[in-house]
Amino acid sequence: MTSVTFNPEHFIARMPKAELHLHIEGTLEPELMFEIARRNGVALRFKSVEALREAYNFHNLQSFLDIYYEGAQALIHEQDFYDLTRAYLDRVAKQNVRHVEIFFDPQTHTDRGVKFETAIKGIHRALYDAEYLYGVTSHLILCFLRHLSADAAMKTLDDALPFKQWIKAVGLDSSEMGNPPEKFKAVFDRARHEGLLTVAHAGEEGPPEYIRQALDLLKVRRIDHGVRCLEDPALVEKLRQERVPLTVCPLSNIKLRVFDRMENHNLKTLLSQGLCVTVNSDDPAYFGGYLNENYQAVSQSLYLGPVELVQLAKNSFEASWIPQADKQRYYHELDQLQAAATAGAAY
Ligand code: ADE
Ligand code: ZN
Repeated sequence: MTSVTFNPEHFIARMPKAELHLHIEGTLEPELMFEIARRNGVALRFKSVEALREAYNFHNLQSFLDIYYEGAQALIHEQDFYDLTRAYLDRVAKQNVRHVEIFFDPQTHTDRGVKFETAIKGIHRALYDAEYLYGVTSHLILCFLRHLSADAAMKTLDDALPFKQWIKAVGLDSSEMGNPPEKFKAVFDRARHEGLLTVAHAGEEGPPEYIRQALDLLKVRRIDHGVRCLEDPALVEKLRQERVPLTVCPLSNIKLRVFDRMENHNLKTLLSQGLCVTVNSDDPAYFGGYLNENYQAVSQSLYLGPVELVQLAKNSFEASWIPQADKQRYYHELDQLQAAATAGAAY
């Protein structure tokens, strides 16, 4: 039998995958932003797509968030939210992404006078169409902006409850430092009481203590990012034993300078510690890559082979909220790909 060298790019493209950490507003590509702004008569500060892209030079989370919230101002009508979500799903369906659990930030829109229902109806309709067209299944996660007040988050939950059947979970995003999870305990208690699951961004820029608060006070099912957990070995042990997933976003972490270069990213260490690590794209229009590009970046810089890539893809389904039988189907498909790769098949 002829042995063919392993081609990570082809292998990654062929793996079924789930994406669990994706801000839909962070998929707004400059071309679509300009098109939607033009049809809505919204004036953008940047004169061209090129000028906007040149501004995507971030030095930390806040410098990114400032431009990300500005870009979202183009979105006004239900059709804008549909087009945004549909463009993301069209792309990732081609990347063999089979299931997505995506965030949206309603306060970014309601604070500008766009109704909660306008945003959620457009997003929901695109998710529905993508399942019909591509078989890509989905869940929607409502994120509270943590730089705003706990009262504002509670008011957003009031807006959301009439649409509860379209929402699987609540999450917490935006500026982490100085906005600890404990600030949102009451609203997360209420969300869980309403039957919603919970997740939270923690340990991206913030300390391990924020990860502990997210687990203990907000009762989260996953930690979004969580890369700073390694600073607290007892916390790593808890995450490992309880198999709490971490939704890691490699290209985001480089763009926002959480790590200086991909070769120094701790994803491989997290995996080797037995944690349920997943790979995700966060805000792909701003960080230079969708899901497959994130897998490729870590595979290349951290020398991940088929076994580790399959482990990451399996983790993505394990950490998702799809039925157990669907998880088993994806594990089986991934086992077959791994067996073929390790037997020297061509990719
Ligand atoms: N909102 C969009 N992307 C984010 C990130 N990486 N961290 C916190 N809030 C965000
Ligand atoms: Zn995020």
